[in-house]
Amino acid sequence: MTTPPGRPKSLPPRLLALAQHIRPTAAVIDVGTDHAFLPIYLAQQGHVGRLIAMDIAPGPLAQAEGNIARRRLSDRIELALSNGLEQLQSLNIDPDTPLDIVIAGMGGENIAAILAEFMGAQFNDVSLHSAQSPSSKSSMSEVNSSDELFSPVRCRSSLGCRYLLQPMTRAEKLLDFLADVNLHAEEYTVSEGRRVYQYFVAMSK
Ligand SMILES: C[S@@+](CC[C@H](N)C(=O)[O-])C[C@H]1O[C@@H](n2cnc3c(N)ncnc32)[C@H](O)[C@@H]1O
Repeated sequence: MTTPPGRPKSLPPRLLALAQHIRPTAAVIDVGTDHAFLPIYLAQQGHVGRLIAMDIAPGPLAQAEGNIARRRLSDRIELALSNGLEQLQSLNIDPDTPLDIVIAGMGGENIAAILAEFMGAQFNDVSLHSAQSPSSKSSMSEVNSSDELFSPVRCRSSLGCRYLLQPMTRAEKLLDFLADVNLHAEEYTVSEGRRVYQYFVAMSK
């Protein structure tokens, strides 16, 4: 049975939980969108801000495009082929708009690496608090000593960026990274079937 166009589609609890944290007027970037269920749901719920579905791979992005077109939302949801957030600048998002960045359904280390690239920080896939090579520790300290570290460098929204992050694995690595880049992270859990997922809503302190 297919879902008639325009009819709200329910989301898996994991994505629904994230959707509930999205600010009503925010521009929403769904990094690693794959099927684009989250932006589709938001569009169908009447979200007023821009909705951007990004993926690194053409296959998932084509799937997103098809799902969006079938629901006649092509004029509502933008698509971008992008490794992490590298195409964000080219989207010319109004700096007076709040920006909500969603990264869900990937490993915690991949999410941290995407954020690190975006912020100009370092993520070495090793706990930044634990024993590691002197070089990686000192490079983190160098970044820490610089104002350049903090997300507003690339987060140009005067109303702030929020990061809605749902790691499938290694959540603790992601949490360590968020602390190291001085983002405040609220921690939540959501159950889906027998599995309990952790997710984080992170923002500048
Ligand atoms: C398992 S799917 C998750 C889909 C959806 N976000 C969810 O939570 O259900 C992971 C998606 O992330 C994409 N991805 C992986 N690394 C990425 C990166 N660095 N930048 C953008 N997308 C990436 C993959 O191509 C894939 O489509």
